[in-house]
Amino acid sequence: MRTLLVTGIGELTTWDDGRPVRSDAAVVLDDGVVAWTGDARHAPDADERLDVDGAAVIPGFVDSHTHLMFAGDRADEFAARMAGESYTAGGIQRTVEATRAASDDELLVNARRLLAELRAQGTTTVEIKSGYGLTVDDEARALRLARSLTPETTFLGAHVVPAEYADDRDAYLDLVTGSMLDACAPHARWIDVFCDRGAFTVDESRRVLEAGIARGLGARLHGAQLEPSAAVELAVDLGAASVDHATFLSDRDVELLAGSSTVATLLPGAEFSTRQPYPSGRRLLDAGVTIALATDCNPGSSYTTSLPFCIALAVREMGLTVPEALRAATLGGAAALRRDDVGHLRPGATGGLVVLDAPSAVHLAYRPGVPLVQRVAGGVAA
Ligand code: NIG
Ligand code: FE
Repeated sequence: MRTLLVTGIGELTTWDDGRPVRSDAAVVLDDGVVAWTGDARHAPDADERLDVDGAAVIPGFVDSHTHLMFAGDRADEFAARMAGESYTAGGIQRTVEATRAASDDELLVNARRLLAELRAQGTTTVEIKSGYGLTVDDEARALRLARSLTPETTFLGAHVVPAEYADDRDAYLDLVTGSMLDACAPHARWIDVFCDRGAFTVDESRRVLEAGIARGLGARLHGAQLEPSAAVELAVDLGAASVDHATFLSDRDVELLAGSSTVATLLPGAEFSTRQPYPSGRRLLDAGVTIALATDCNPGSSYTTSLPFCIALAVREMGLTVPEALRAATLGGAAALRRDDVGHLRPGATGGLVVLDAPSAVHLAYRPGVPLVQRVAGGVAA
């Protein structure tokens, strides 16, 4: 076991008392796990020392929503949207074709490339979904490969109805809730469904999630991305850990979320890339809803690996202050994954820390698009 003492921290965000604190603070990591934080003058000795010369230190980001298991890209669709086309769920089929045709090695190389991008931008905990295989073997393969990269794996066989089942959606739902779930559950912690126009109805989504819950998986869902719907009500009713996108919310949705343990995971990269309106994070926080910020990294609706970019969008477009956005990208992501060991720097935290190339975390939004991550220590996303 090696201990690392980080000193000279100009602004340290631990979330132990809710606020960024202390100048000349220090942190001790013991084999990547936080062992101590406090005033540098009282720091214990360690095997190695790192003086960060006044830089800000924050917890590693928790990206609680990504689709990293895919092949190919859809830059042409993005270009068409920027010229006025609208986003539809239909594009998913193109990535399904490319993903089915890819080897295990190609999928892993691509996912590792994206994970390296995530980590270089401060993310140390990552959730990865399946959803571009849509056969028993291709979904199980995606989850098996994802499991080699993170414990936070999500079965999304109900992403869309694949082309070969276009005339028999019930048969596809039988498959997803039957033999596909059997093959995927051993590699997954979560089950997800795309409950929206062009994907699955609320009733179909309930069926999928209930089957996963009965198999011991935790529920989360894509909901209200493309239009208002009863997806939020479903999420709350099933005790889902998170409802993601949450772009079109009624007052009742907000009220239901506020009275629940379901996190609203906001994905501003998707609104950016699909030219949709941004939901108000302010409205959710003011109502008492727990929010998370995640990238939704996927080749269709949000091909970014940058939580700093999402923080900047959330601050500029969703009414959040920088500390609120930072909290959503760390502690909020942890809540969306029902984890209490990541997203903060209290003793025992396993999510690692990020040294910024800046004196305060405000720079994450103040200097948008600038690579501000100087160093990442600890955490598992690699
Ligand atoms: O979260 N909304 C559903 N799934 C993805 C998009 C997938 C795609 O377009 O390839 C999302 O935005
Ligand atoms: Fe998504």
